[in-house]
Amino acid sequence: MADKTLCGIDVGSSKVACIVAKISEDEPMPRVLGFSSVPSRGVKKGQIVDIQQVTSVVEQAVEQCERMAGTKIQKAYVSVGGPHIESLNSQGVVAVSHPEVEISDGDLTRVIEAAKAISLSSTREIIEVAPREYIVDGQSGIKNPLGMSGVRLEVNTHIVTASVTNLRNMERCLSDLGIEIQGYVFSGLASSLSSLSETEKELGVALVDIGGGKIDIAVYIEGALSHSTSLSFGARHITNDIAVGLRISLDSAEKIKLHLSNLKHTPDKDKKSDDIDLTRLQLADDIKSVSYKTVVDGIIQPRLEEIYESVFKELDSNDLIPRIPSGIVLAGGGALTVSALEGAKRVVGLPARIAHPKHITGLIDEVTYPQFSSVVGLLLYGKDMDFEEQQLNLKDFDKIFRNLSVQGSVKKVRSLFKSFIP
Ligand SMILES: Nc1ncnc2c1ncn2[C@@H]1O[C@H](COP(=O)(O)OP(=O)(O)OP(=O)(O)O)[C@@H](O)[C@H]1O
Ligand SMILES: [Mg+2]
Repeated sequence: MADKTLCGIDVGSSKVACIVAKISEDEPMPRVLGFSSVPSRGVKKGQIVDIQQVTSVVEQAVEQCERMAGTKIQKAYVSVGGPHIESLNSQGVVAVSHPEVEISDGDLTRVIEAAKAISLSSTREIIEVAPREYIVDGQSGIKNPLGMSGVRLEVNTHIVTASVTNLRNMERCLSDLGIEIQGYVFSGLASSLSSLSETEKELGVALVDIGGGKIDIAVYIEGALSHSTSLSFGARHITNDIAVGLRISLDSAEKIKLHLSNLKHTPDKDKKSDDIDLTRLQLADDIKSVSYKTVVDGIIQPRLEEIYESVFKELDSNDLIPRIPSGIVLAGGGALTVSALEGAKRVVGLPARIAHPKHITGLIDEVTYPQFSSVVGLLLYGKDMDFEEQQLNLKDFDKIFRNLSVQGSVKKVRSLFKSFIP
């Protein structure tokens, strides 16, 4: 396989992030060549509300990233999230076409197609079909039935759908910039790819990406994606509360929130005054200091609790709490809010940790923060897609040569062709 470049674009409510990486056979992980993050405009709750504004911000992010990587971006995987995301679990059943031989790729494609045959309104589109388990002649829990023998093949899938309007809006923005969309990926799924370990997924875990305007949730049970949803509020609500509580502008409130969240030392509880000096923040509002307790305990924590109560409700109403012993992994910028981790453990009542995107190499210093989990995940998604494509190509060659009855030499011919595949 020759070197290939992959690109991911995460259009968030707070920022647009763009990443370019090289994938090659010699390296197990994508090598990051370029990265950019630009404050977002025209996106609310993960949905495009102003195409022109979004196009201009994406253009800025793409240009910066192209300059850093020294390459032109022509195709990209793009994240989608927000309350327009819906998910359901669906089953497919087929008769194996050649039960006397083995279950083939063709059978897998047909059974997935059967599972996709759900009644869907014309305003919605399927963006993800994740197989959860295969069942061969009644035997359940099979991860990969290829090569097995059987008569009846069933699959349980998890399907994610999105609003067509939102997808077409995204397409408009990117086609105006000459970028072809290789795939839409639910942003919660993207974050999970860069943030979760295989063990966590096997045991059961919920990825909770707290963005500026939405919260994406992706739940894994027995290693498979089993529940996806997106709540219509996020960390920007904490900023709003600070602005209202202190009667200051949103801009000053955001700066204060970030300052309190990034403090190296929190004020001593026994001290008389817990005032935090704000003069260095050069706020437009006339506010020189704030009481740590007033803002953190009085404003930030109650809002965080409300956020986690909604997350708990979402998980509980789907009977997922007992099925995720690995707990909650927090991604998104909101995960960095002061006391976010403690709040999650307390309110949801499960273990919790903060995500740091993994499985990439190269220029990663700026990237390994929870708010970039999604954009990194897009690369990993693209890499998996590329791998699957390669496998399919190789299998096609195998089939052609098997049909030509050159069985003994299939391996040799296969490796010969492999060396020609770009
Ligand atoms: N260091 C930090 N401390 C506290 N909060 C932070 C920090 N960095 C970012 N945030 C908050 O995280 C939010 C942005 O998160 P993120 O970048 O994940 O959002 P997004 O992906 O653009 O939006 P969304 O996914 O909701 O569409 C903002 O509300 C911001 O204030
Ligand atoms: Mg996001």
